[in-house]
Amino acid sequence: MARADVDELAPSITLSVDVEDEPDFDAFFTERDHYFHTNYLTDAQAERDLTQVLDLLRLKPGDAVLDAGCGDGRLAVRLALAGLNVTAVDHDAAQLERLRLHAVTSKVDVTAVECGLESLTLERAFDAALLWFTTFGFLDDKTNEKILRRLSSSLRPSGRLVIDTLNPIAVERYVNEHPGDVETWHGSDVQIDRYRFDRLANRLESKRTTIVNRVEEKRLLSLWLPSVAQWRELFVRTGLEFSSIHGHGRRAWNEETWEMVLVAEAAER
Ligand SMILES: C[S@@+](CC[C@H](N)C(=O)[O-])C[C@H]1O[C@@H](n2cnc3c(N)ncnc32)[C@H](O)[C@@H]1O
Repeated sequence: MARADVDELAPSITLSVDVEDEPDFDAFFTERDHYFHTNYLTDAQAERDLTQVLDLLRLKPGDAVLDAGCGDGRLAVRLALAGLNVTAVDHDAAQLERLRLHAVTSKVDVTAVECGLESLTLERAFDAALLWFTTFGFLDDKTNEKILRRLSSSLRPSGRLVIDTLNPIAVERYVNEHPGDVETWHGSDVQIDRYRFDRLANRLESKRTTIVNRVEEKRLLSLWLPSVAQWRELFVRTGLEFSSIHGHGRRAWNEETWEMVLVAEAAER
């Protein structure tokens, strides 16, 4: 559906937050983004993600795990149900509220911490950490690196970190093949992305318009998608050692895979 038709569908837009010139580093995964992802975030998907996380992090019951950018706790609660000692961090109070509710109904304990990952000061007490479902890369390069450093220093020696991000090669190809508006519908609400891939900075940018209950919001999102070589350098700079790379589930990583799942280990200090 063309943009003009969307405008006809939503003739009485009441608010327009227009911040399209600068990336909005504070508002990259809002309630609205969550809303337009609900089709993907099924229980079956969460179970598949859990299996891969348990496998890649080599977790065993009783291990201490840090779910960094935990969102509504779909993985944190499942990790706790699997017998792990889970600390879940997010800067979004609404998401953490959902997590707490989910933990109560599931009768498990999860330590929920409301904090920006860039400000996290945790002891080196974790056997493993996860940054799952494209949670890394939405901030400026220096702050992104700071987040990895903080996570690295929360890991015990040889503790593992798994990062689920997007494959810049596949993403750049997708963007080139979809030069116009890309629409995601939820009932009569719509999210419209106009993508651009900045090859020099390895950043996916999106001018994102959402129309929910006829209220329009515009943001410019900018997601850093390092190449494999850049990830390796980043790990070295942040006290980590590259361990392996995968696709989602049991898929091997290659240039075609949409996701890129990296595993690193805390280096000896
Ligand atoms: C795409 S969601 C993924 C949530 C969860 N990991 C999952 O698999 O469902 C990204 C989450 O990370 C959180 N997040 C991203 N960057 C963060 C930061 N710098 N500090 C704290 N939370 C962050 C967002 O608030 C959001 O809840």
